[in-house]
Parts: sequence; structure tokens; C-alpha cells
Amino acid sequence: MSQDALPQAGQSWETLEARMRDMAKGDVKWRQGRTGLYIFNAGEEVERVQKAAYAMFSAENGLGPAAFPSIAQMEREVVGFGLALLKAPEGGAGSMTSGGTDSIVMAVKAARDHARAKRGLDKGLNIVIPFSAHPAFDKAGMMMDIDVRRVPVKDYLADVAAMEAAIDERTLLIVGSAPCFPFGLIDPIEALSELAQRRNVWLHVDACVGGYIAPFVRMNGADLPPFDFSVPGVWSISGDLHKYGYASKGASTVFFRTRELLDFMTFDAGPWPLGRMMTPTLAGTRPGGAIAAAWAVTQFLGVEGYREKQRQVTEAREKIEAGVRKLGFRVIGKPQLGIVSFTHDEADCLALYAKMHHRGWFTAALLEPKGLHLMLSPKHNEVAHEYLADMEASLKDLKQAAGEQMTPRYAG
Ligand SMILES: Cc1ncc(COP(=O)(O)O)c(C=O)c1O
Repeated sequence: MSQDALPQAGQSWETLEARMRDMAKGDVKWRQGRTGLYIFNAGEEVERVQKAAYAMFSAENGLGPAAFPSIAQMEREVVGFGLALLKAPEGGAGSMTSGGTDSIVMAVKAARDHARAKRGLDKGLNIVIPFSAHPAFDKAGMMMDIDVRRVPVKDYLADVAAMEAAIDERTLLIVGSAPCFPFGLIDPIEALSELAQRRNVWLHVDACVGGYIAPFVRMNGADLPPFDFSVPGVWSISGDLHKYGYASKGASTVFFRTRELLDFMTFDAGPWPLGRMMTPTLAGTRPGGAIAAAWAVTQFLGVEGYREKQRQVTEAREKIEAGVRKLGFRVIGKPQLGIVSFTHDEADCLALYAKMHHRGWFTAALLEPKGLHLMLSPKHNEVAHEYLADMEASLKDLKQAAGEQMTPRYAG
């Protein structure tokens, strides 16, 4: 590529800001609540706290706790917040990572090294996961040469008997989600725990989506099944701060029942000319801004603030559930948190997805079964009626189009 393409003279911040605003013109209007994916919109106040905290520590590096005891303290406090929420026993431990995929890959790495050390397993390892578990587990498998056995779900939940049938003496880990992304449903963690204990395998709960919403939904009175460290076979949990923790992007947590289990995640690399390099996770440099923003938001909201935000999410979900049922959709399973998926026996959901996209809604679509998917934020409580009105109009469009197709062209 020619060097002519490089910016030659530097540009002023005003120019750059204007250019970036211009680039963002085509982005989805998430501040208006029109995306049900990628964004967790807890309102302007939270966004202000995120940005200010991120900016304060954007240059600092979590790789150097001795240089930045501030960042180390913030990480400890964020991890402590998560451990308490997820009912970790005394001695439970955790670390911040850059995101859900990172947390999951790190948990699989810890489980693999644990299996090597404690069970004498080395090559030909596998993990057993429900069909609905996140592709981050496949990525972990690809990186560590571990076979990933995806087992079909039953009534959209992990099928514990089928998962048991897939376990063999080289299985190092099984997985349940709380909730899974596709359907927003919490897998039967207690039954998976019983299975894990009986077959002597590690159980990881992927609470990337649920970790920072489910405890508050429960505090608000919902009867959620146990999914956290209160379940004895759960050895590790991933929970994303940049999802329902409402932190800036680049912030997740991975937790272990004991410090000893966490130690299997640690990298002890080298030697090189500086000796050995020990890091808690794969990352070298770790963004001070992301850690600071997560700390500031958790402190800003506190338990009361999270309960209120998650109450708004629950209310939004209930409105959407009731509304789409009225429009003839079938809600998949019994969602209890912030994700709801629904399907229609007559209307083509993928065509509806396109119609809604055209009306400015950026959401996910399901392929198995064909359906629509929403990951809701507090903001959606204000715009649920707009979504439902647009969905009604989209359904009408489809019916009309079907009618037009059936009208003979050369009548008479
Ligand atoms: C259940 C679940 N696990 C893991 C992830 C991966 O998280 P990330 O995108 O932060 O890597 C997601 C992302 O949506 C998820 O829904």
C-alpha cells in the first residue's frame, strides 16, 4: 500500500471529532433503544460515569500492580463484588479479563491444566457442552486442541442425560449456561453439578450474560433456580461486567471456587532476558480504563442501583413477552432474565427480522428454530411499545405481501 494513504499533517481534535461523528452517522441508533444486541443501555448517568472513569485511567496498565496499586485495588474490589454476588465460599478467587470469550477460554485453560496435574490426562481431551453454549468454547477447543462435543438440547435446555452419554474418561469439563445466549434460559445447573461430581469432571457455568443480572432479579423476588457457587459441583463461573454490569467494553470476570483452581489459570512463561513472566490470564497489558470504569459503575450503582436497572429490564421483557404473544408468536421456554426469543408458526421470522431491520431495529435472529431474539436493556422499558407497534406493522406487511403474491396477475 502506498504511503500516500497515511495521514501526513496531523489534524486538530475538533476536526477529528467531527470526522468521527460523521463516521458514526450510519451506526444503529442505540441511544434511542433501537438495538437488542451489542449494547447495554443503562442511561446517560451510567454512561457519564463509565466514560469519566475510563478516561482517568486510560493510560494505566493493569499488568503492573506494583506501579498501579490503584488499578490492583479496583480489580480486587470488582472481583470481590462478583464473588459475593455469586455466593463464592470463603477462599473463592477470581480475575478480570477483557470479555466473555476471554473468561471462558481462561476457565477451559485452567480446567485443562487441572486435568493434567490431578488426573494425569494429557492428549485427546474433550469438553461436553449443550448445543446452546457460546462459540467461545469452540474457540478454546481450537486453541488448545480439545475436542468440543456439542450435545442437542431438550426443551431448549441442556439435556443432562444426553450430556452424560457424551462424557468419557477424557472429558475434562462440562458446561451449563445461566442463561444461554440463543434462548435466554438457565440450564439445569443443579443436575449438571450432580453429574459433574459423579463423573469427576469440572463444571463451568457460563454466566457471561446472567452473572450481573440474575442475582438482582432474584433479590427483586423472582424464583430463579440455583446456578452459582451455592451449587457444589460448580468450579468456575464467567460473568461479564460489560453486559448487565453496565461497564465499558473490555471488562469481564472469571471466578473459581478455590484459589487452588484459579492457580491453574496462571501463566508462568519464559525465561527470557527479563526472567520469568507471570500473568493471571493470557493478557500482558491490561487496560486500566476498563478496570476503572467497571469499578466506578459498580460503586455508582451499588446493589440498589442494579436492582432498579434490572427491574426495568424485567419489566421490558414482560411487556415484550405479552405483546408478541398477542401478535401470535410463541415465546421460547420461560425466560427469567433479559433475553427473550420467540418464534411464529405461520409468519416467516427471518422475513420479519428484515422488516424490523428496515424500521431501524438492530437485533439478532435465530436459525434453529427460526425466530427473533432480543437482549434487553433498561432503556427498552421506554421503547417496548414502539418495538411492538413496529412488529405489528411488519406482520401486516408480510401478510399483505403474501396476499399480493396469491392474487392472479391476469384475472378474468
Ligand atoms: C452466554 C454468553 N457467553 C459468552 C459470550 C461471549 O462474550 P464476549 O462477546 O464478551 O466475548 C456471550 C456473548 O454474547 C454470551 O452471550
